[in-house]
Amino acid sequence: MRKKIIAGNWKMNTTATEGKVFIEKLLQKKLSEKVDIVVCVPFTHLCSVGKMLKGSSMKLGAQNMYFDENGAYTGEISPLMLLDLGVEYVILGHSERRSLFQEDDELINRKLQSALAHGLKPILCVGENLEERETGKVQKVLSYQLRKGFDNLSRQEASQVVIAYEPIWAIGTGKTASDEEAEETIFFIRKTMGEMYDSEFSENIRIQYGGSVKPSNIKGLMNMKNIDGALVGGASLNVEDFEQLVNYEL
Ligand code: 13P
Repeated sequence: MRKKIIAGNWKMNTTATEGKVFIEKLLQKKLSEKVDIVVCVPFTHLCSVGKMLKGSSMKLGAQNMYFDENGAYTGEISPLMLLDLGVEYVILGHSERRSLFQEDDELINRKLQSALAHGLKPILCVGENLEERETGKVQKVLSYQLRKGFDNLSRQEASQVVIAYEPIWAIGTGKTASDEEAEETIFFIRKTMGEMYDSEFSENIRIQYGGSVKPSNIKGLMNMKNIDGALVGGASLNVEDFEQLVNYEL
């Protein structure tokens, strides 16, 4: 049985001070134990939020990292730096990093290999843009991103990855993929993972949906057989909305 995982991706929002207030409020809420809850905060918040989350059921996540351990990489953050602050999950290959910061599949793969070698759990984002959807290229695009992203990973390493299917046209637009659309594409991703590894592997890997997830649409999405959670942007920045998202079953 795959445990659902709901992760908030704060992106470049809130100051560290505001982030602390947010987490304080969240810690006062009764949050479901049936789902894994992750908050992926900006790098500047990891130290303070990490301390606050100690002893709680929520897990700490980062939004990116570089693959090397240290060196002359001005402005970058290494896996060792994340581990030191208690980070467990790291988002890699988010579409905003692919499009705004020119990250390609090869770089993302190197980051994935490094994260796994250091015991971090990557949340690998994949997804098509609107033009690719409208011209029938969804499967081709996803298959490429998955095969490149998982290149050179052993079965054991790959089993630690969470995949987030985030159609780019649904991110921050208010347009969500319908439950069936998301389910159909995530089923394709699962099938592809089965081809890359084996059927037991594909049955166990967790695949989230992301893109305009909010309290009003989470239930329908989570009721789909192949959707194992959500990667949430905008709605994760509101305490009550995030509470409702993680407690969608209650
Ligand atoms: P929104 O939930 O704001 O659409 O963002 C989705 C996302 O990009 C999460 O990583």
